[in-house]
Amino acid sequence: MEILRHLVVLVHLVGFAVLFGAWAVEAVSRRIRVTRLMSIGMVIAAVTGLALAAPWGVEYDLNYVKIGVKLGVLLAIGAALGIGSARQRRTGGLPPALFWLIGTLTLANAAIAVLWR
Ligand code: HEM
Repeated sequence: MEILRHLVVLVHLVGFAVLFGAWAVEAVSRRIRVTRLMSIGMVIAAVTGLALAAPWGVEYDLNYVKIGVKLGVLLAIGAALGIGSARQRRTGGLPPALFWLIGTLTLANAAIAVLWR
């Protein structure tokens, strides 16, 4: 059970890497846009995160306040990605603030996961 949880954490980290990596590629190339890979990474992080929110394969109590905050941040990332891709389709561009918000919130969720114990 514990090894299975560790495997789900690994896939969760892959989701984070795909979302943040896809965003970083665009940022470094100075392309202010959202891509399908960002949404794929977000869905992987969301599905595995929800699985990890249940208390299985752990001998300690989960921090549900922290998990709730992470869920809220994820919803904000989802909204920014959804609004961003709709805007992009309609106008061909994305407000830079929305683009930077996606990267910042993604990094914030990883920071919450690692630093809030
Ligand atoms: C973009 C969104 C997310 C990012 C970037 C992210 C990032 C991370 C990272 C980096 C870790 C590993 C922390 C460590 O080494 O201890 C982690 C663990 C975890 N995440 Fe997320 N996460 C996201 C979304 C979520 C969501 C939506 C939930 C639940 C509602 C969630 C629940 C958890 C839990 C419970 C763990 C601890 C797993 C364990 O050690 O058993 N995450 N997350």
